[in-house]
Amino acid sequence: LSRGSFPNGFVFGTASSAYQYEGAVNEDGRGPTVWDKFAHSFGKVLDFSNADVAVDQYHRYEEDVQLMADIGMDAYRFSIAWSRIFPNGTGQVNQAGIDHYNKLIDALLAKGIKPYVTLFHWDLPQALEDRYRGWLSTQIINDFATYADTCFNAFGDRVKDWITFNEPHTLAIQGYDVGLQAPGHCSILLHLLCRGGNSRTEPYIVAHNILLSHATSVNIYKRKYKAVQKGSIGMSFDVMWYESISNASKDIAATQRALDFHFGWFMDPIFFGEYPSSMRERVGNRLPTFSAKDVALVKGSLDFVGINHYTTYYAMENSTNLIGVVFNDALADSGTINLPFKGLHPIGDRSSSIWLYIVPRGLRSLMNYIKDKYGNPPVIITENGMDDSNNPFISIKNALKDEKRIRYHSEYLGNLSAAIKDDGCDVRGYFVWSLLDNWEWAAGYTARFGLYFVDYNDNLKRYPKNSVQWFKNLLSSA
Ligand code: GCO
Repeated sequence: LSRGSFPNGFVFGTASSAYQYEGAVNEDGRGPTVWDKFAHSFGKVLDFSNADVAVDQYHRYEEDVQLMADIGMDAYRFSIAWSRIFPNGTGQVNQAGIDHYNKLIDALLAKGIKPYVTLFHWDLPQALEDRYRGWLSTQIINDFATYADTCFNAFGDRVKDWITFNEPHTLAIQGYDVGLQAPGHCSILLHLLCRGGNSRTEPYIVAHNILLSHATSVNIYKRKYKAVQKGSIGMSFDVMWYESISNASKDIAATQRALDFHFGWFMDPIFFGEYPSSMRERVGNRLPTFSAKDVALVKGSLDFVGINHYTTYYAMENSTNLIGVVFNDALADSGTINLPFKGLHPIGDRSSSIWLYIVPRGLRSLMNYIKDKYGNPPVIITENGMDDSNNPFISIKNALKDEKRIRYHSEYLGNLSAAIKDDGCDVRGYFVWSLLDNWEWAAGYTARFGLYFVDYNDNLKRYPKNSVQWFKNLLSSA
């Protein structure tokens, strides 16, 4: 594997998000977010931590940019915290927030690193949750558009690659159905543990409002900025690959539904103007519909498809729907069970996180699926990576020996290269999740996804794992 395994101009980078990295939650006028509230609620985070400090990138961005430059990375994907720009979600712009991201962007460009900017990586201003229940209200469409417009205007002279939303599927399911992420709504049967809500309808409403917010802001970018700034804009979707657990036609049909409910949910409206037919049939009138005006806005509303891909599961038909109804209403609607096992055999080696099985061929299959189904749009892998556990008994020296991560990236990248060179898939870039170990949402500090180790016991010092040298070699090769 070398640079030459990828087309000219192919971009390599690392990815991060504001709440997982920045810390400084009470500084320079930042307003509180739903994640601050969630993380500070008892029992929501595995190790009872929060991201008040995280890895302190708010203060250490210059050092971190140097770490990227040391590897030879071309780009950095980070997110802007909406509540640093608008502490109350709307109203007065907070200049200190603008100043911070200007400094970060300029520091990156000074080292020849291109900023890829996510506008929304889950940290909704709490004020909007309080005012109108955030993503459950159509009011958010205009407020998000104003925030996006403000960012295009402030940063678009230097930022040429925009991602409106990160993982709308995860937000809708984890935030409004399973309840493991902010704002923590969940199914009726789990109501005692969660903040309430209605998981039969809410995930679909949230997803719909995100699609309309995305499309409205893309429309603003195209009308007001694109001709002058000459950038491109897309969205990042989380999508695993699914393999049918058997050759039975019911399982093969379930596998397609698993993809529809995970990925087609967002991709089909954008490429075809409506939700997948399997969703329309099964969700019925709980699924919102697009007016002709909405279709005109949503269809074609991206320049590239961002893909956050980590793992592959088997899919099978779920005829009883019991698991789904108890834990995940949308899964019940899809009528599938998705599992990393066939009998006792795991689909691949596991990383530390219980959900993350290593199945490099899945990435190649996914790229081909996108090519065939959606007409070979430009794709950027906006996240791919694996974690080690945060093991307090292992020395830093041993924690830096991440040979498994090296294998992970070399095999996923090998499959990506084959998808591009042998299969003709139009993939433009690859971002490692993540530059540093960081705060992994409900898993807190227990999962270490970084190329650099962060010492949480000693002033957040960063140390290169062996994978840094591996990427250095790859990126300096011809
Ligand atoms: C995302 C992801 C990241 C996670 C990563 C590892 O939404 O982009 O959830 O924030 O840290 O996927 O799980």
